[in-house]
Amino acid sequence: MHKTIKLKIPDSSFIYNEIVAKGYYVCENCFDEEILTNIQKFWIDYFSEKNRKSFKSKNMFGLAQSIGEKNDDCYLKNEKFYMYRSKDFLWNEPTHELTRNLSSEINKIRNRILNLDKYHGLIIEKDREMMFSQVNFYPANSGYAFEHKDTKSNKVLISCMFNITFKNIHFDKGGLYLIINNQKIDVDEIITPCSVFFYNGNLPHGVDKIISKNIGRMAGYPMKQFFLNKTTLPKYLQFLIQADISIRKRLNLKNQIKQGNSSLI
Ligand SMILES: [Fe+2]
Repeated sequence: MHKTIKLKIPDSSFIYNEIVAKGYYVCENCFDEEILTNIQKFWIDYFSEKNRKSFKSKNMFGLAQSIGEKNDDCYLKNEKFYMYRSKDFLWNEPTHELTRNLSSEINKIRNRILNLDKYHGLIIEKDREMMFSQVNFYPANSGYAFEHKDTKSNKVLISCMFNITFKNIHFDKGGLYLIINNQKIDVDEIITPCSVFFYNGNLPHGVDKIISKNIGRMAGYPMKQFFLNKTTLPKYLQFLIQADISIRKRLNLKNQIKQGNSSLI
C-alpha cells in the first residue's frame, strides 16, 4: 500500500500568501481517497474505547522529550482539554506507516513555505528540531480544547493538518475553529476529505465540544518541535546513566543496554 505519497498541491508561495492574507488555506483533493480510507480504518480502531485504556502517558506537550524516545500515546482530561494523542517519532517503527508518510510529505511542503531545506525535521540535525507524526482524537460528546494560540509570538506560525474524520459524517456539532478579525471560522465545516489544511497557529483557535452519535474528531498533524539529547542533560544525570550501565555490566545483569560495535563476523 502506497509507500510514497505524491501530494497534489499548489505552489508554496501561493499557500504562503493565502495564510498571511486570510489566516488559512484549504488545499482540496491533495491525495487519493484510498490513502484516507486506509488511515481512517487504522485510527478509528486505534482510538476505540477498548484501546484507549492503554493510553497512560500525560506528556501531551512533550516536556523533556528526547531524541530516541519511544512513541507516546497520551491523554489529557482537565478544564482546558479532553483529548487523546498518539505521537510517532521517526527513529521508531512507525505506529502506522502511511500516516507517517503523509505527515512527512506535508512537512516537506511546509519546509518549502518556510524556505527551509526539503528534509528539515526529517533527519537529525544539530539544532535537534524534528518532525513527528501526531494524531489527535476528541471523543464524541466529551472531547474539546479551550481557545488558545500555539506560541506567545505575534508572528505567523505555519501549521498544517489533515482531518481523518469529518464533520457531518463522523460528528455533528463542535470541532476546530479559528478566530480571524473577531469572526469565528468553523474549520471542520469547510474541510473536505483528502484535503490538507494550512493555518496560522498563532491565531486564537480551539475545539468546541464534539457532539456525535458516531466516533468523534480525529486529525493528523506533521508536528515539529525541539528535542533534548544526551548533551542537553544535566551532568549529574549523565553521570547516573554511566554509573547504571557500568554497574549492570560488572554484575553481568541480564537487562544490559547494548554498547560498542556489532560488526562481528
Ligand atoms: Fe493549538
